Amino acid sequence: MKDYGKYFNTPSLKDARMRKRDTEIIEFTIDDKYQKLGTGKKYSIQTYGCQGNEADSEKMSGIFEQLGFSRAQSSEDADIILLNTCAVRDNAENRVFGEMGRLSSLKKTNPDLILGICGCMPQEESVVNRLLEKYPYIDLIFGTHNIYKLPEYLYSAYLDKERVVEVFSTEGSIVEDIPKVRDSKHKAWISIMYGCDEFCTYCIVPYTRGKERSRQPEAIIAEVKELAENGYKEVTLLGQNVNAYAKDLDSEYTFGQLLRDLNETGIERIRFTTSHPRDLDLDTIKAMADSEHVMEHLHLPVQSGSNDILKKMNRKYTREGYLELIRQLKLHIPDISLTTDIIVGFPNETEDDFVKTLTLVKEVGYEGAFTFIYSKRDGTPAAKYDDNVTPEEKKNRLNRLMEATNSGYLAGSKRFEGEIVEVLVDSVSKNNPEMMTGYSRHNKLVNFKGAADLIGKIVKVRILEGKTWHLLGELA
Ligand code: 5AD
Ligand code: SF4
Repeated sequence: MKDYGKYFNTPSLKDARMRKRDTEIIEFTIDDKYQKLGTGKKYSIQTYGCQGNEADSEKMSGIFEQLGFSRAQSSEDADIILLNTCAVRDNAENRVFGEMGRLSSLKKTNPDLILGICGCMPQEESVVNRLLEKYPYIDLIFGTHNIYKLPEYLYSAYLDKERVVEVFSTEGSIVEDIPKVRDSKHKAWISIMYGCDEFCTYCIVPYTRGKERSRQPEAIIAEVKELAENGYKEVTLLGQNVNAYAKDLDSEYTFGQLLRDLNETGIERIRFTTSHPRDLDLDTIKAMADSEHVMEHLHLPVQSGSNDILKKMNRKYTREGYLELIRQLKLHIPDISLTTDIIVGFPNETEDDFVKTLTLVKEVGYEGAFTFIYSKRDGTPAAKYDDNVTPEEKKNRLNRLMEATNSGYLAGSKRFEGEIVEVLVDSVSKNNPEMMTGYSRHNKLVNFKGAADLIGKIVKVRILEGKTWHLLGELA
């Protein structure tokens, strides 16, 4: 393969801070010249990171299949492999670099294999420089803003035999009508907005995903209606900060209104992630309470219980403000299940700061939490902060935090013992072919004895025992 062809565009994190361009809506189409490009070829996509990446991979699968590619059973069997990557923490990135090394050996037995990397990692200039220097066997490098150009890139790689490196730093478009191959027949991801304008000081996402831009409500409502008509039971609305939905649109529309409108579409279950405490308002809480199809679960990342650290993180709320939101949530939705994200070991977090996080965890009574050790991301403001917390201390705080959050998980399971819950059945349990598994309205994993024809249905299950990570029950 020749080195760079007509595509050579590398990212700049500095440019990615810019927030000026108007949002353009692009209708996706495939040029005739690309049709049948994939006839007889197999694709494989490995997805890392958040649900936004899962949703993007479903779009890329849709594009591949429209071009005539079929899905490979394994990477060994594939003609093209894409790694859809995450840049949020360095351990996710290290996994990807390791996997690329492993995949490169497949090129020895299959020299025509095309290897590509996309998603958030290529949006970082340091990653692209490393790829260009040390990974010459990577054929395709593109970012989060140009998935819709995949047909062109494939054409260039296959027919012109050219390496493609194209990453846009400041794209502000929304591309509608990209075909999707959804992983599930009863649950669907729906991106309602893209990007993030919060600029939490530790976070790379506002740079890798660009400015906040919301889809039109009509487009979202139509998509959910169609899914409901096609037998889908559940949608999860996706955005980095769904509570800021529509703030960039030229209208009075709000996220609360979207929940109310979607409640009328005929879809059984509505979930959403991720919420930002700063933008979560009373109207949204009331919309959740009033809408029977919106589930009684909220993932509300707090990140820290210390006002000093929240300030240094640029979270724009205080511990007291957050706790007031929790009070309102419990007032309007008394049985709500609350989960969160927490970072420990942020630069200069003191023992006292950390203890404030621990007491907040107990006060809120979270029933689940993703807990992370702070990971320095080049290009973010926090990367320049002095950090005097030792790695041992960070690990120690993480362990103490997990002890607290694990007891929250268990309490959240125990409270359902003896109750009857509704479960959307996902699949046969991996550990026991006689058991079925699915999620309750409160987002609890439930296992019960049942037959495979229940998959995709909502059934009533009596809970016999609440364990830390799941509930055990029987059909009611
Ligand atoms: N280090 C550790 N955790 C991070 N997160 C985001 N950026 C970082 C970072 N640099 C966590 C936050 C966020 C979740 C998706 O990932 O808790 O809510
Ligand atoms: Fe990152 Fe903060 Fe945006 Fe979430 S809200 S994606 S943590 S910058």
